[in-house]
Amino acid sequence: MVDERVAANPFFNQSLTSVKEVDNNNEVLLSRENIFFLFQISLFMKQAVEAHNQLDLLRGHMIAVLFYQPSSRTYSSHVAAANWLGAMTVDLPAMNAFSSVTKGENLPDTVRSFEQTTAASAIVLRHPDDASSKIAKKFASVPIINAGSGTSEHPTQALLDLFTIYERKGSFDNQTVAFVGDLKFGRTVKSLAWLLAQVGKGNKLAFVAHPELQIPEDYLNSLPEEVSVEMHDSIEEVLKTADVIYMTRTQREWFEQHGMLDQLEQLDGTLRMTREYAERMKDDAIILHPLPRQTELRYGVDDNPRAAYFEQMRNGLYVRMALLAAIIRPDLTVAMLEGLVNGKS
Ligand code: NCD
Repeated sequence: MVDERVAANPFFNQSLTSVKEVDNNNEVLLSRENIFFLFQISLFMKQAVEAHNQLDLLRGHMIAVLFYQPSSRTYSSHVAAANWLGAMTVDLPAMNAFSSVTKGENLPDTVRSFEQTTAASAIVLRHPDDASSKIAKKFASVPIINAGSGTSEHPTQALLDLFTIYERKGSFDNQTVAFVGDLKFGRTVKSLAWLLAQVGKGNKLAFVAHPELQIPEDYLNSLPEEVSVEMHDSIEEVLKTADVIYMTRTQREWFEQHGMLDQLEQLDGTLRMTREYAERMKDDAIILHPLPRQTELRYGVDDNPRAAYFEQMRNGLYVRMALLAAIIRPDLTVAMLEGLVNGKS
């Protein structure tokens, strides 16, 4: 782990609505330096959890977790992260079914209501609209963490993906990362690819998709210029060169809304990571997937040493613990955590 110590906690009282989030000084929040800070904290969280050591860093704080879309990993890891840190939670995984959203309440009122009724110190939000987190940030007076917005952003997923690359490959520089699957509607790819361009050095991004599901052109054109980009339509083309292959499922739920339902059968499962493909990858390459999977990631890949998607999801717990603690505790630094372990504070 690179020891680039940040003296003060740059995340305190900041929202994370996007990987492009800027702080009060108009500086990019997820800068290279700040990412190293967060990853050092994440490693500390990993040690604590693995030692079954519940922390009380957030004792006396409430976290509201509001989900308007289905989730397994992102929901459970945010709630678990709060619990491992000693915080309380009000967690609603079915906002569309059980909250006043069914009575037509809009997002600004809903966010303000949960902030008031729970005295939350931070709100975690998953919502089908691209702008949802930004709207919530405007109306809430506490930080908003975007846990997935529409087809555009999933910044905490990008953080845990990057952390996994960092841990497994020892660096997030000079990596060839191939993104495979539904890059049109998938939001995790857009956030991770952006982050690799924003904080990494010398990375190459390969977008591998059926032409109908390729990464949107306006997104591609807006990527930071330093990163190199290539386009492919078959996995074979990246098997030997990729350091990371990031598989994604076909995002069926968006097809109807975009008038593409008739193409679903034809486009679904055209790009698959099989046992044979996995074996042909570089020895030290890794396979990631945000999950859930459908047919694009065969179960036969799971026991290949390159498969990193189960530890990837565990890393979500550590990184989300680090983020929550950093957002809420102004005094959070690596030195402060070391003191905590040594019983000094
Ligand atoms: C992803 C999502 O919600 O965008 N899931 C997750 O958070 N791990 C990926 C997906 O649903 O395909």
